[in-house]
Amino acid sequence: MEVRIFKNDLEIGEAAGKIICDFVNSKPDCVLGFATGASPVPTYNYITEQYNSGKVSFKNVTTFNLDEYCDLPRDHKNSYWTFMFENLFSRVDVDPAKVNFLDGNADEKAESARYAEAIKSKGGIDIQILGIGRNGHIAFNEPSDKFTDEAWRVTLTQSTIDANSIYFDDIPIPHYAMTMGIGSIMRSKKIILIATGASKAEAVKEMINGPVTPGCPASILQQHADTVILLDEAAASLL
Ligand code: PGA
Repeated sequence: MEVRIFKNDLEIGEAAGKIICDFVNSKPDCVLGFATGASPVPTYNYITEQYNSGKVSFKNVTTFNLDEYCDLPRDHKNSYWTFMFENLFSRVDVDPAKVNFLDGNADEKAESARYAEAIKSKGGIDIQILGIGRNGHIAFNEPSDKFTDEAWRVTLTQSTIDANSIYFDDIPIPHYAMTMGIGSIMRSKKIILIATGASKAEAVKEMINGPVTPGCPASILQQHADTVILLDEAAASLL
């Protein structure tokens, strides 16, 4: 793991965005794995600026997102599909036909197999963006007693429900989600994990300095060959 510490989230967004844009320019038909949440938003803003200045094009890029709520229509304002189109895909020239999402309303086993096959058929994910939960989750893989492999249907923990319910003002937040498994994430060739703010400091410490354990799912990244962790000073404060 390479750990880099920045003054603020804008600097992180620029650093992560540069890695992604440089890679897309070197491999225009690459495969990118995207994450939702507040952490990657400055990165998506930086990428959008680069696109607007004509410095990068995403028209041949294939995308896979990490997760999606269950029991929520895809076009609901709080779906992760909507989040990605609002925060990135509609702002750059990503081809919607090359955008891939887990369907939170499909049969779990069939959907997991479909997503695994779709990722494999594209040659795997070149760069996967990740956030981290306050409880050490990555995507929606919550702390548990085993590492998962392919995509699966997860019951969200109270910590995650509390953290994400601020976004739900019309209906209660769903308690289930489909998420890429730990194995699918670990098979990404490169991983960029972004964490900002003091609320992530404990999880960041466990991820980097703690034992590799499914009790802190992000700790598995210690075993990944090419992971870069981008932190602000608050998130790095317990290192
Ligand atoms: P956040 O979520 O970026 O909104 O903090 C990260 C996560 O829960 O994985």
